[in-house]
Amino acid sequence: MIKLAKTAGFCFGVDRAVNLVYELVERGEKVCTLGPIIHNSQLVADLESKGVKIIDNISDCPDGYTVVIRTHGVEKNIIDTADKDGVKYINATCPFVLKIHKIVSQQDDDTVTLIAGDEKHPEVMGIRSYCRGESYVFNTAEKMEKILNERKLGEKQSLICVAQTTFSLKEWKKCEKILKKLYTNCRIYSTICNATADRQQEASSLSREADAMIVIGGRHSSNTCKLRDVCSANSDTFLIETAEELRDIDLSPYKVIGVTAGASTPSVIIKEVLKTMSEENIEKEVETTSAVTEEVVE
Ligand code: F3S
Repeated sequence: MIKLAKTAGFCFGVDRAVNLVYELVERGEKVCTLGPIIHNSQLVADLESKGVKIIDNISDCPDGYTVVIRTHGVEKNIIDTADKDGVKYINATCPFVLKIHKIVSQQDDDTVTLIAGDEKHPEVMGIRSYCRGESYVFNTAEKMEKILNERKLGEKQSLICVAQTTFSLKEWKKCEKILKKLYTNCRIYSTICNATADRQQEASSLSREADAMIVIGGRHSSNTCKLRDVCSANSDTFLIETAEELRDIDLSPYKVIGVTAGASTPSVIIKEVLKTMSEENIEKEVETTSAVTEEVVE
C-alpha cells in the first residue's frame, strides 16, 4: 500500500508562483523570473525549454518580457525602479510575506522594527526595506537581547517584532518570552509560516505508520534532508530525486510505503514516482499470481 502525505511538495505560495509562470507561458507571453523561481533544477530546466529566462536585475528585463517576482519578495527599491522604468512585472511574493511588508510599512517613523531571521536572506532584505524607521535583524534570542541592551531600546521606545516566515519556531518562542517579560511595550507579530513545520510533522507521523518512506527532493535541499532525517528515525527511508532512482531500490520487503516530498519538488515528479511505484506493484502482483497458477497447474 502506498500512502502519500497531504503536505508533500509545494507550499501554497510556491505553488501559486509556479502556476502563474506556466499560465503566462501558455498564454504566449514572454516571461523572465528575477532569479530562479524555485530551487529545483528539473522545473527550472523545463521552464527554460519553454523560453523562460532568468535575470539577476530588474533592469535586465528584455523588451516585451514580463518579470515574475519570486515568493520571497524583493526590496522596495526594485519595485520602485520597475514602476519608474515602466517594466512589466507580476508580483508573486507570497501573501504571507506581503502581510509582513504591510505590518512594518504601517508603523511610524520612530518605531523600531526587530526582525527574527537571516540578515542575508532575500525575504529579510525585502522586509527590512519596507521599514520606515530603524530595523535590527538577529537569528537568536541572545543576539536580540544584545541589540536591545546595546541600543538601549527600553520602555519608552515604540517597538515591534516580526519573524521571517521560515524562522525556527523554537528560537522565536525564546524571543517572545524575553520580549513579553522585559519589553512589554513591544508589539509582537507571529509571522512564521506553518507550511514547513506541518510537512515535517506529517512526515514524522506517516513514517511511524509505514514500513518504509520515500522522500522525493533535491539532495542539496535542506528541507528535503530534514524530512529524510525525521523519517529515518522511524522507518527505512530512501531519498530520491527522480522516479528513475526507484529502479535501484528494492521495495518488495515493505507492505506499507509512505511518500513525502520537499518544498520545491514539483507535483509532476511526485506523480511520476507514484506511477512507477504502482506499476511495479502491479508487476509484482502479476508475478505472484502467475507463480501461484503454475503451482496449481503442476
Ligand atoms: Fe510557502 Fe509562503 Fe509559507 S512561500 S513556506 S506559504 S510563507
